[in-house]
Amino acid sequence: MGNLERANMFADQALADDPFPYYEYLRSMGNVVRLSQNGVVATLGYDETLSVFRDDERFSAVNSTAGPITLPFTPVGDDITAQIERHRGEIPFAGLVATQDPPLHTKTRSLMAGMLTPKRLRENEAFIWELTDRQIDVFADRGRFEVSQDFGLPIATRTIADLLGVPEADHGTFTQLMNGPPILPGQFQGTEQAANNPLERVGMFFYQYLSERRQAPRGDVLTELALATYQDGTLPDIGEVIGIASFLFAAGQDTTVSLITASLRILAENPELQHQLRRDRSLIPNFLEEVLRLEGTVKAVFRLSKVPVRIGEIDIAPATTVMLIMAAANRDPRRFERPDEFMLDRTNAREHLSFGRGVHACIGSPLARAEAKASLERLFERLGEFRIDEQFHGPREARRFNYAPSSMFRVISALHLEFEPLR
Ligand code: HEM
Repeated sequence: MGNLERANMFADQALADDPFPYYEYLRSMGNVVRLSQNGVVATLGYDETLSVFRDDERFSAVNSTAGPITLPFTPVGDDITAQIERHRGEIPFAGLVATQDPPLHTKTRSLMAGMLTPKRLRENEAFIWELTDRQIDVFADRGRFEVSQDFGLPIATRTIADLLGVPEADHGTFTQLMNGPPILPGQFQGTEQAANNPLERVGMFFYQYLSERRQAPRGDVLTELALATYQDGTLPDIGEVIGIASFLFAAGQDTTVSLITASLRILAENPELQHQLRRDRSLIPNFLEEVLRLEGTVKAVFRLSKVPVRIGEIDIAPATTVMLIMAAANRDPRRFERPDEFMLDRTNAREHLSFGRGVHACIGSPLARAEAKASLERLFERLGEFRIDEQFHGPREARRFNYAPSSMFRVISALHLEFEPLR
């Protein structure tokens, strides 16, 4: 990218392909900076990003997914909390669990936590291992595969389907529903509205499952979901439960696929690292944390200031859009030594902010970690050394990877690998 001064991370494909030099350019101006676009204030420093994540009193998550939007109201006074709530229905995606604010968010979050209990996650883990093996069967003899479509996506979809108790006979339908090119939040040209469509279709299935079970409980996971209550014992509206189940599908797809893809790209490019992990599988968890630190799927999320507030050295007015750039915070040299280097034995790799922090911290992180770990373990077991398929990605000195055009997500559109089939 030639001229960083004129770059625009909400529109330039070159910044989607490699955003890191631009983040460093911004960091050279401070750990918190005002961008020239849309009046956005961006955090690049670790402590500054963390402080906003933890401050749900003064920052709303209403724009977390929508990003820099034009508010449907003119901010008045020194506290816009009531205005946000009055106009929430007019703000895109503002009804999702990820964009709700306390006290409503606290209620929804407790309901969601009841769906992802440690017991369910443990039961689900056995399914993930078996599923990973079945998926490898599809291409084990082929000597090559495309990571997202042949492997990551079917695993991510079926894993959440199993977690939420979707009957296995319907898993194929869900895989088809969630298939297709990802439409991600933060997409250039503002086409993210379409991201709702697969969710609506998933929601229709859940409506049927849950309404049947509310009428005739069966003693399965879907019945548990259908009859789950808020902490005060009241039964939520069925639409509320459907919304959460559908959102779990959306939130756990491209994010997890991308963690698997980023991990495999790094291993395919570094045979020595690949051998080290193959020899000692106990290194996999820290390897994944370092991948999340350097190549976390969610580069940034947004917050809206509700009151006048200071972040780092910058004073901001109410109704300011704050972009929390976790991908930059994860490379803050004040927190991570030699931040741009991949260090397998980094002792604080797990401190990355790729799963967010505070009340909205990713509830699916144990699941994403379990899926990625099972994927690596089974691929190591079943395939010989894998390498980048140069037919698709070019030679080492001129690699080509296409990243999704998004200011918020870091997702490789396709990763082609070749490998030695094991006899
Ligand atoms: C590598 C994979 C993943 C990454 C990098 C990731 C990242 C994130 C981040 C950064 C947030 C916080 C957003 C904010 O503060 O505005 C978040 C929230 C969330 N994630 Fe994930 N996620 C991943 C996988 C998953 C999976 C597998 C699920 C579902 C099972 C999931 C479900 C959710 C939900 C429901 C929220 C909203 C939580 C709330 O608002 O209380 N995520 N995720």
